[in-house]
Amino acid sequence: MNAHVKADLAPLHSADATTAEEALERQEVVDSESATRVALQNTLLTPRFYTTNYDEMDAIDVSSVRTTWDALINEMKADPNKGHFKKNADWDHIDWDGMEPKLKAEFIDFLISSCTAEFSGCVLYKEMKRRGKNEDITTLFQLMARDEARHAGFINDALREAGIAVNLGFLTQAKKYTYFRPKFIYYATYLSEKIGYARYITIYRHLEKNPELRFHPIFKWFREWCNDEFRHGEAFALLMKTDPKLTSGVNKLWIKFFLTAVYSTMSVRDHQRPAFHAALGVDPKQYGYDVFQKTSEISRQVFPLTLDIDSPRWQPNLDRIEAANHQIAQGRKQGGIGGWFKRQAGSAKAAVAFISLLTIPSIPNQVPDNPRLQPAY
Ligand SMILES: [Fe+2]
Ligand SMILES: [Fe+2]
Repeated sequence: MNAHVKADLAPLHSADATTAEEALERQEVVDSESATRVALQNTLLTPRFYTTNYDEMDAIDVSSVRTTWDALINEMKADPNKGHFKKNADWDHIDWDGMEPKLKAEFIDFLISSCTAEFSGCVLYKEMKRRGKNEDITTLFQLMARDEARHAGFINDALREAGIAVNLGFLTQAKKYTYFRPKFIYYATYLSEKIGYARYITIYRHLEKNPELRFHPIFKWFREWCNDEFRHGEAFALLMKTDPKLTSGVNKLWIKFFLTAVYSTMSVRDHQRPAFHAALGVDPKQYGYDVFQKTSEISRQVFPLTLDIDSPRWQPNLDRIEAANHQIAQGRKQGGIGGWFKRQAGSAKAAVAFISLLTIPSIPNQVPDNPRLQPAY
């Protein structure tokens, strides 16, 4: 972009943009190599970028859920959060240099990983909008891409104050894309939207009661933020409703697999940030349990089963996966043949514990005819 155009665009913030493209153009490119390098990482635990069979997704017919669909789209078009995701008088000054170094490192890692996850949604939704011809689908995906671009842009605003930012344009080009067939996109994205809602609202409510623990102003934005994620999740619930096969038969096993994978990944990731959770006054285990409970309750709108997180085998196996992950990290640090063996042993332990989680009998659920829910937490 040339300087002239940039000057013309400068007064408009990504929060006020009405499309994802516009929001991304308003992102000042402050390349921060280290942050972008972290965002580029692809491991089992880092947010990924996805690609899918766009033609198959474009062929979805939403007429069986038409009334509910139109109401949701109208709600999104009304754009209740336009202009919300930018700094205002509520944005307190942060003394980044004075922040305890371990907390600072973990918090920055949290922001980079959140920004990557938001942007991952943006890239996928924007691409579906670009490739699609089905107006119902392209309208939805364009609205969701708009929201995710604003979210990613806002996190980058916060990072920039610490002197870093994720280069979103570069990330689009350079990050590896993972192919997921459409039904896996539905399960994974539905869950990530709903668990995102549950995570943000749990932190928001906790800090509402304990405002002295709010060590950064971005948490004040979490309520409206998670309402966007809630709506995105509603859209995927409706998409799954259009085809009963997606939530029956062998696909029940896939749903169980995705629930288990998403919950255990979150648990391991959160345990990697002890200083961050200590500063918020949050016990990651209790936090995980609360978030899983909310997500399970919400997911009963469309999934024919929930995981039994009260099973005596649930928490011990989550703990085993976390310990195995710690061992893998140590092996990586150690390097050499000894480190390699440590990593292999850790991976095997994690796999056994994960399979053990999968074999816990799930709780069957009678799905309601109308899936629509309102955020209630
Ligand atoms: Fe988002
Ligand atoms: Fe979202």
